[in-house]
Amino acid sequence: MRTFKNILVTGGCGFIGSNFVRYIFDNTDYTGRIVNLDKLTYAGNAESLSDIAARIGDRYVFAKGDICDKALVSDLLERFDIDGIIHFAAESHVDRSILGPGEFIQTNIMGTFVLLEAARKRQAEGKSIHFHHISTDEVFGSLGSEGFFFETTPYAPRSPYSASKASSDHLVMAYHHTYGLSVTLSNCSNNYGPYQFPEKLVPLMILNMLENKALPIYGDGLYIRDWLYVTDHCEGIWTIARNGRPGETYNIGGENEQTNLAVLDALIREVAGQAGRSSDALHALKKTVPDRPGHDRRYAINCDKIAKELGWKPRTGFEDGIRKTVRWYLENPTWVQHVRSGEYQHWVDRNYGDRKTLVSAKA
Ligand code: NAD
Ligand code: TYD
Repeated sequence: MRTFKNILVTGGCGFIGSNFVRYIFDNTDYTGRIVNLDKLTYAGNAESLSDIAARIGDRYVFAKGDICDKALVSDLLERFDIDGIIHFAAESHVDRSILGPGEFIQTNIMGTFVLLEAARKRQAEGKSIHFHHISTDEVFGSLGSEGFFFETTPYAPRSPYSASKASSDHLVMAYHHTYGLSVTLSNCSNNYGPYQFPEKLVPLMILNMLENKALPIYGDGLYIRDWLYVTDHCEGIWTIARNGRPGETYNIGGENEQTNLAVLDALIREVAGQAGRSSDALHALKKTVPDRPGHDRRYAINCDKIAKELGWKPRTGFEDGIRKTVRWYLENPTWVQHVRSGEYQHWVDRNYGDRKTLVSAKA
């Protein structure tokens, strides 16, 4: 088993990254430090980990900065004697990549390249370093009504987002084959759960229901995704980072295929029950809108490899996961208000502005 003393998590203020940091400190026996490098784009919120920062003390360090900043990345690796990199930071929303692909190319491809180069430098200096890269099932393209994505499925990305992720995956594997860098890679399906920025399907629909706004369904709503509860994903990532074979890629899925309309119906049931709303009134908010260009019809993951080799399986049933997610959004209106208003940027300045836990790009 690989052990780590100091892990660099990139994008730890985003949805999956913040759940991962929380999972490591609250649910594992990890005794080392996590340095969280995050640029705090619109999708990043340092407040998502404010309780961790307060409870964990020096074992949690927040570094505001860009993964494309070569000097900052090298400095962090050296200063904190980093022996593991768990790389979440990315531009992550398909719709945004259609409207403006530039940031996706910069962060997802160039940023990954900068991190890999910094890791290679440490390896050349004789330091121990392992790189785990988080990717998506979207790199495999779109499925028809049958079949699954396997680790061996050829890449066929179809949106600027998935193309940028595919490119970064190839770079990660190339650094293993060419330079012998110790890497692992995971391709996961659609995550849902607490702390997800409300542009993605699940939180967007919950909040629109609470505000009596239209529920926008792209096209016929029969697109299929495999929904994975975020904490199950975090457990899978930690399993692979510690026990995955170097140079290997593992699929992580929820074994839970649903059409978008079925997801919406499950959300309506829960919001109606938990918030005391009329489900008929919520159903009446459904609105068909023009489809996303190049919309992938179906994603479905086979995750036998991680189950057989590493003993991981998804734990959270869909109804249970949806119930927990709806409850979290109902109980955290301040978080929602902050991520939507940009207030969290001021919160970062107030709370981290003069604290030693902030490592600025110029530090
Ligand atoms: P997110 O958009 O919620 O968070 C991304 C985080 O990265 C934010 O905190 C943002 O501030 C940070 N970031 C962006 N650009 C940066 C930069 N240049 N330097 C430093 N930090 C930067 O994303 P997420 O949903 O948490 O996704 C995390 C990873 O998982 C991504 O690599 C994504 O491709 C992958 N993934 C996500 C899903 C999903 O369903 N959410 C599914 C498959 C794969
Ligand atoms: P999304 O959460 O954007 O994830 P991805 O595109 O990475 O799978 O979307 C999930 C599905 O929901 C996808 O088929 C697009 C659809 N969708 C809607 O129908 N309406 C919406 O408002 C959004 C955001 C997504």
